Parts: sequence; C-alpha cells; structure tokens
Amino acid sequence: MSKYRVQGGNRLEGTVRIGGAKNACLAILPAVLLSDEPCRISNIPNISDALVSLDILEALGARIRRIDKSTVDIDPTSVSTHEVPHDLARQMRASYYFLGALLGRFGEARVALPGGCNFGVRPIDQHLKGFTALGATVPAVVTNGMIDASADCLIGNSIYFDVVSVGATINVLLAAVKARGITIIENAAKEPHVVDVANFLNSMGADVRGAGTDVIKICGVQHLHGAEYSIIPDQIEAGTYMACAVATGGDLWIENVIPKHLESISAKLIEMGAEITEADDAVRVRMNGPIHACNIKTMPHPGFPTDMQPQAAVLLALGDGTSIITENIWDNRFRYIDELRRMGVQATVDGKIAVFQGVPYLSGAPVRALDLRAGAAMMVAALAARGQTEIEDIHFIERGYENFVEKLHAIGADICRIDIPDAVARHA
Ligand code: EPZ
Repeated sequence: MSKYRVQGGNRLEGTVRIGGAKNACLAILPAVLLSDEPCRISNIPNISDALVSLDILEALGARIRRIDKSTVDIDPTSVSTHEVPHDLARQMRASYYFLGALLGRFGEARVALPGGCNFGVRPIDQHLKGFTALGATVPAVVTNGMIDASADCLIGNSIYFDVVSVGATINVLLAAVKARGITIIENAAKEPHVVDVANFLNSMGADVRGAGTDVIKICGVQHLHGAEYSIIPDQIEAGTYMACAVATGGDLWIENVIPKHLESISAKLIEMGAEITEADDAVRVRMNGPIHACNIKTMPHPGFPTDMQPQAAVLLALGDGTSIITENIWDNRFRYIDELRRMGVQATVDGKIAVFQGVPYLSGAPVRALDLRAGAAMMVAALAARGQTEIEDIHFIERGYENFVEKLHAIGADICRIDIPDAVARHA
C-alpha cells in the first residue's frame, strides 16, 4: 500500500507536459488486434491501465517490443486466442474494448465483465445491442462473470444508441470496421478519444467517417494493414492541472495539449475567475483573486466532461458563494464529497445534484482516493489546503495520471510518495 503526502499552500508555477490520452489509449491498444501487420503506437501514457492493456495483448499472444518509455511495437499476427484472462480483464473498465476488437478479428470473444471506477451502475447493454445488430450472438445472461460474443459473419447495420455512450460507440467501431457492408451509428459519442480511435482505424485502412459527430458511417473492409500512430494528449489530465493552477492561485503553462479539446473546461475556469491564454499546443492558466461561485452541468462532449466534475468541485468548494453541480452522466459520482468534508468542504448532495457553500480555506487531513477522478480531486484539495494531507489508495490515481508526483513536484508542489510494506499497512 502506498500514499501521497502533501504539504498544501504552495502556488504552482512553471511548465507541465501532458501525456497521451488514457481513454484513447485503452481503445487503440486493443484495436491493434484488427491489423494483419505490426503497428507502432506512441505517446502511450505511463499509467497502470495502459500496462494492463499491454499485458492482455501479450497474454493473447501478441509480440510487444518497447521502443521507448511511451512507444511500443505490437505484432498481433501471432495472436491465437479470443479469450481475455479473467484476472487481467477485471482490473479495469476498458477491458470491454477487447470484446469489439476480438469479435472483429476472430468473430468471437470471451472477456470478463469489466471492473473500473465504482460510481453507480455501469451497464454494457448498448455495447451488446450494437454487437447484436451486427449479427453477433451475445449472452442474455452473463455466466461465471464472463461475456461470450460470437458471429459467423459480422454484417453492417444501423444502430441507434439509447444513450450517448463513449464505450459502446468505440466498441461498435472496433467490431464494424471489418464487418461486411455499411454500419451507421446514430446518437454516437463525440469525445476527442472517439475521434482518435477512428483516426487510428483509418490509418490502418479502415473507412470510418463522421467521428466527432453524432452519426458515424463505417464501410467494412477485409484487411487492415499496419500503421504508426501517436495518441492524442489527455484532455482530463490537462484539465486536472488547470484545476491545480486555479486551486493554488498559480501560473502554469500546460504543454502538449489540443486547446479545442479543453474549451468547455477553459470556459468554466474563466467563469471562476481564471485567466487562460491559448497557444497552438499549450494553454497558460493564471489565477489571482477569489474563485467565483458558479454552476456546472456535466454533459457528453462538447459539454463539461464528467471526468472533470470532482476536480472542479474542489474549486467551487473554495468559491465565494453557493455553487451547484449537476452530474448528468453517472448515478453516483459524488461519493468523494464525504472525503472532502474531512478537509472542511461544506456541501449537500441530493441524487444528481451537489450544492457547495464556499469556504475560505481547506485544512489538510488523511483522506482516501475512492476512484480515479475522486483521487485527482483529493490531490487538488491537498495542494490548496493548509497543512498536511495524506491520500491513501493511490493505485486508483495511478491508473490514469502518469508520473503524478514528479510532475507536481516540478511545478512547486511539496509532495512525496510513501511506500508502506503491505504487512506494516495491514497492522497500521
Ligand atoms: C468512458 O466510460 C470513460 N472511460 C469514463 O472515464 C467516462 O466517465 C465516460 O466514458 C463518460 O465520458 C473510458 O473511456 C475507459 P459511457 P464508459 O458508456 O464508456 C450509460 C475516467 O475517469 N451506459 O459513455 O463506461 C452509463 O451508465 C473514466 O477516465 C448505458 O446505459 O461510459 C452512463 O450513464 C471514468 N449502457 C452513460 O451511459 C451502456 O451500455 C455514459 O457511459 C453504456 C453506458
């Protein structure tokens, strides 16, 4: 067990470089299975979920050669099984992308029900609806925690999603690119990582049009060739550092970003009183003065991203008035507020709505990361708080934030990682 120890109160200043997008990477790595030749993927973030995806590819039989810290060569031609090991699949939500990729490659797939952050029910009915529309047989009920999908031949079809789903949109893309005929996805998700996956598939010779809009058209092809592809920068990692700048009254240059992907985040931080300057592949965030209270509603892209909701909540908890957050994507994504209350946050939660009464400061306390972005919110709070904060269960945070301590330390945070041997931790 490990934890972060933070002495809060330092203004964050300087430059931080953003890594590859977790939620693009976790789909692009499985998508390599669809290729008939090796691929080189670069700008892979140094996060545990990416390592799990690479472990799954190796377990399936792919040959992986690491070129440098963020680049790998993957040869999928030696993959000989369609079953993802249960112990690996359980470790993250995105293991479900192996369903679409293996279905598209072999016409069958066997993957454990995914794990992932616990903030309410996380169904995959729309994924299975999409696979069924393409002619696959999927289980009416899940047996032994595994999902089996199979199809003699995947045939293009029209699919209208009941809800906007990033995962289902990407998973159907993966299954449809080599299906026979044309697939139309309607009510598709438009997140930057959906577009990045479509661009990767097209770089291998797929024919995907309309990604980034709510209608995506896929013309099936028989073969996909190898490709070299660099993953886009992580919109949420960037947004998290933007929130850290605002929380500490800092001045940060955040490099290796696509400013357009950050528009809804920048707009909200400007409403809170931040000064944001955009360059081609960087944004500068300066904060002098009080954080203005405001309201946030999370929405599918291009709305305010739900994955920035906990981090933004910390800023509103320090706002100069009353603020309301409405969480429209997930049923139960305010659990982290119980942890923030230990640091002095004043908030009430009623279903999808949280109301914050701004307080002048937070005080350091021992807290836990309840999931990935809840953990990021604890970090934003710890950096702003007076005194020491220790954050436990940091494995959640390290699923999605690469070199978090190093990057924060380099911009002025007083932070260290404490590694506690499990035996000691059990008796602590
Ligand atoms: C992806 O999860 C992200 N994870 C999540 O980020 C993110 O919160 C979410 O998209 C929304 O942007 C990855 O990309 C690995 P959804 P996903 O399918 O695909 C409902 C992070 O912090 N739904 O877009 O699982 C669902 O209940 C993580 O990086 C169905 O009803 O989310 C939710 O209300 C946390 N049936 C809504 O749709 C389905 O079959 C959006 O879910 C699928 C989803």
